[in-house]
Amino acid sequence: VVIVLDFGGQYNQLVARRVRECNVYCEIYSYKTDIEKIKAMNPKGIILTGGPNSCYEPDSPTYTDELFKLGIPVLGLCYGAQLMSHVLGGKVERADVREYGKTEVFIDKKDSKIFQGVSAQTTCWMSHFDYISKVAPGFEISAHTADCPVAAAENEAEKLYAIQFHPEVLHTAEGTKMINNFVKNVCGCKGDWKMDAFVENTIKEIREKVGDGKVLLALSGGVDSSVAAGLLSRAIGKQLTCVFVDHGLLRKDEGDEVEGVFGPNGQFDLNFIRVNAQERYYKKLAGVTEPEAKRKIIGEEFIRIFEEEAKKIGAVDFLAQGTIYPDVVESGLGGESAVIKSHHNVGGLPDFVDFKEIIEPLRDLFKDEVRKAGLELGIPEKLVFRQPFPGPGLGIRIIGEVNAEKVRIVQDADYIYRDEVDKAVAAYKAEHGTAPSWMPNQYFAALTNMRSVGVMGDERTYDYAVALRAVNTVDFMTAEAAEIPFAVLQSVMSRIINEVRGVNRVFYDLTSKPPGTIEFE
Ligand code: XMP
Repeated sequence: VVIVLDFGGQYNQLVARRVRECNVYCEIYSYKTDIEKIKAMNPKGIILTGGPNSCYEPDSPTYTDELFKLGIPVLGLCYGAQLMSHVLGGKVERADVREYGKTEVFIDKKDSKIFQGVSAQTTCWMSHFDYISKVAPGFEISAHTADCPVAAAENEAEKLYAIQFHPEVLHTAEGTKMINNFVKNVCGCKGDWKMDAFVENTIKEIREKVGDGKVLLALSGGVDSSVAAGLLSRAIGKQLTCVFVDHGLLRKDEGDEVEGVFGPNGQFDLNFIRVNAQERYYKKLAGVTEPEAKRKIIGEEFIRIFEEEAKKIGAVDFLAQGTIYPDVVESGLGGESAVIKSHHNVGGLPDFVDFKEIIEPLRDLFKDEVRKAGLELGIPEKLVFRQPFPGPGLGIRIIGEVNAEKVRIVQDADYIYRDEVDKAVAAYKAEHGTAPSWMPNQYFAALTNMRSVGVMGDERTYDYAVALRAVNTVDFMTAEAAEIPFAVLQSVMSRIINEVRGVNRVFYDLTSKPPGTIEFE
């Protein structure tokens, strides 16, 4: 194991992720963790993260110098590098200017174990006010920048490495190489850890934590809650109860697919409760057209239903949640790091369920790692690679009032659209060996509340218009309309018009985000 000691940096999980990418197992602990505990874990290496403080201030997070005398390799990053220098007798000071962003770093020690295979001049990500003005005794400078005399320093004999920049951030072009060098060349890790080990470890941890207690999970059918359900089921079987609320606003056949995987005929051992609440939702939503009002009703109704089910079950010991690491960071719950903004998926449910503790088995993972864990657990690919789907579901893809008829239309149109796009992508891949550049990151049909005149079989029609949306995006904060080939759009259009009763027109949404949002409401 490699231990990451968290000093409150924004990127500390990213450090852990990079280590895992080297197939080395890694755990994060607070800087408040006792040295005896760390010694007992006998780690192969220790990484100290960045953090917002100045290490020379009296109340700043620190660590005993004993850590550096255990003979265990230590890599300090940013604050971690400064702290290492400070504790071991070097000097850290406030710089005149902040060094921030992509910076050219010049490697001075060509034979440094950490910079093996790294270019002599390499782009790195810097974010600091303080700098190491004098290295600690026994250290030599191994890299510098135009503004920063000590971009990296090391005491090779003691296996201590200080790096001022952030190798864990992708803007540091050769950062992954540096972390790989540390864990393999310096720490001597073999790199044979895989996602199956995460799954095994987590199952063991869940068993230890839960004992013979009862666990309740709200299963949405999305990737995160599904993987959480899979893990918990493997760990504790029927001690787990999953409540799946079908609000009638899911994609076509999705409710049955979720039941197929997690229900009584599926491959997981658990108590599965499906609540078919379609009618209840449609009743509540009748006549409501204002988007925020719709969202609110859908959210509140979910809580009511979950509450009713929870009451039937009675007190449970644990409430499980499929929180993943990006949710944690956004909520400012990420270990020692500062609050950025609150997130709607975290901390919503607990108030009304009678439970003792929350259990979040995916809390340390990024989305792609969650997917890998899902595949490892045998959850079908179709579910594991499901595209993002909002909690309010089709409710916010039907502009205006929601009713059963409109849900049917949008479900059928959306199904055809996804089917055609998927076929076109598969055909492209078969021919070119890679996905097309227009491959959208999210694509779906929505129902406008506009009806217009058309003609079909010599008859006048007066029907709805469907809008097709497809976007290319990395972070879903900004997005561009995807350039789906016209021929594909045309086959989607003709299938929708022919196969979906009540539609006589199809639009393609060209709007980017901003100014548009990805969803329609
Ligand atoms: P917007 O529409 O804000 O969507 O551009 C950005 C991404 O977030 C998804 N989305 C939601 N996800 N609950 C969710 O869990 C919601 O209420 C919600 N609204 C939007 C949307 O699908 C897109 O991926």
